[in-house]
Amino acid sequence: MCGIYGFVAPERRDSDTVLAGLRYLEYRGYDSWGVAMADSGGLAVDKDIGSIASARTQLPPARAALGHTRWATHGGVTQANAHPHVDCTGRFALIHNGIVENYAELGSRLRRPHQFRSQTDTEVLVHLLEEATDSEDNLLEALLAAFRQVQGLSAVAVLDARSGQIAAVKNGSPLVVGWGGQACYIASDPVALLDHTREVTFVEDGQAVWLTPDGMSLHSMATGQRLQPQVRHVDWDAERAGLNGYPHFMLKEIHEQPDVLRRIAETKQQEARALADAIRDAGDVILVGCGTAHHAALSARYTLAEIAGRAVVASVASELSPSLPSIGADSLIIAFSQSGETIDVLEAVREARSRGARIAAVTNAEGSALDRFADLTVLLGCGPERCVLATKSYTAKLAIMQMVAWELAGDLARCVEGLRATASQLEVLLDREKIGRRIRETAQLIAGDQHLFILGRGRNYPLALEAALKIKEVTYMHAEGFASGELKHGVIALITSGTPVIALAPDECLRSEILSAAAEVRARGALTIGLSPSAEPELEINLPVDGGEAAPYEIAVVTQLLAYETARLRGCDPDKPRNLAKSVTVK
Ligand code: F6R
Repeated sequence: MCGIYGFVAPERRDSDTVLAGLRYLEYRGYDSWGVAMADSGGLAVDKDIGSIASARTQLPPARAALGHTRWATHGGVTQANAHPHVDCTGRFALIHNGIVENYAELGSRLRRPHQFRSQTDTEVLVHLLEEATDSEDNLLEALLAAFRQVQGLSAVAVLDARSGQIAAVKNGSPLVVGWGGQACYIASDPVALLDHTREVTFVEDGQAVWLTPDGMSLHSMATGQRLQPQVRHVDWDAERAGLNGYPHFMLKEIHEQPDVLRRIAETKQQEARALADAIRDAGDVILVGCGTAHHAALSARYTLAEIAGRAVVASVASELSPSLPSIGADSLIIAFSQSGETIDVLEAVREARSRGARIAAVTNAEGSALDRFADLTVLLGCGPERCVLATKSYTAKLAIMQMVAWELAGDLARCVEGLRATASQLEVLLDREKIGRRIRETAQLIAGDQHLFILGRGRNYPLALEAALKIKEVTYMHAEGFASGELKHGVIALITSGTPVIALAPDECLRSEILSAAAEVRARGALTIGLSPSAEPELEINLPVDGGEAAPYEIAVVTQLLAYETARLRGCDPDKPRNLAKSVTVK
């Protein structure tokens, strides 16, 4: 949430350098953007509402600059609330990713002598900094003094027009610095630095960085003392490729799933073995994640039980507390996170580690906070996911955990073969005009509805939850996934004439129960839409799938496409759903 970008360079650079860096961070928020350029003691700032993709600015070139793309937390989406925020003297421009929890208290103390221009929690920081410079003449010390007064988890960067320097601190949100071509850079994600450098240092919580025309230094926030930076070479490529002819990243990434499965089958066997060993060695195993990642974890719970006979617990990361009493030295926490930066996941693994647990990460982001924290990481390797909605990273997690389960069951080779076959099946499905047409027709039937329900049972239940989440996020319709066994315990009261109900019946898993549930809602007027290998009288419409081992992936792909087509009919932007950001780094 919120993207930070900046540089200090020996020569003047134009503001497009900042906009280009920020565009890689757009996934972190697209409510508003802002740029500050500092040169020869002067500060120039431009900011506006709207996404960085359409941002244009005419600021003069400068040797130091900061930029920000915002996901609003405190204060609405207005130009005044866009970052950077400037102090009363016009010397400092400050940007922030996180939350200042005690902003109201600090604000009431600062309000009298200072002029506040926004409703954000962030602005107190720049006025605190202004006060701190009365006693501290060095930028870093002043920022540390200011930051010590705030509560909450944040990353903050400040540009000082007088010295042409940038200082930044971190105690929660991600921050990375890099050095290349005699310039130093700072960003929320290394992807924004790869045009300039591949040598990066991940700033850890409790550390500060100072970027000056003479170079860059890392410091302890507690003492201000200089630390030895750990430089890491980033050898992966940010996928700079565009849409490749697709109208949206969501559609492109849905279509990438066959390749992702193939790549996982070929390249992830060793990592799957290592995770299986960790599960074998562990007592309790708890899978944590948020949103789609949690749904992948729930699916893994079924997969591990059915294939490997291994019972595990799956918990929403922010709801780990009931499991805490059982966590100890023989526990294994497997944390699922595409971004590896989700704050609730990071807090859960920190809490578990403090109780002695071993931590495994299943993430797409090499070098992310989760990757760095974990004892063992399985990288999804599915390439950057640019759409805010998780699609290919979800099926990648399903595939990895399927491999882990088969490895535990002693037959990884069978799973690898199965995934290859599934990849080909998905390719055919994605190419098949007939199902594409049916999905579009179905989207037309449901696009005008307010509510939609998805029924699953057994291993298809977590898939129903995920399908509902996709539809909610991108169409803004109210969609709920239910365990069909729960239907008669209350849910059926929601069914009225014409209510669309999707029944997941791709395989033999509790098929007759799902079809009975479909019959029951149909009897009450629901429009029943099936995902089934064969047409059935209980299903008025069927989106045919082949079923078998490919079933979970087919369900994922078909429901992702249905969500996409419905969103388009409802005039929603599939890549930038309202109110969402790809990386949730604030609580
Ligand atoms: C859904 C979606 C979110 C994320 C969730 C966790 O399409 O994108 O529900 O799955 O915010 O994010 P990661 O996986 O980065 O921890």
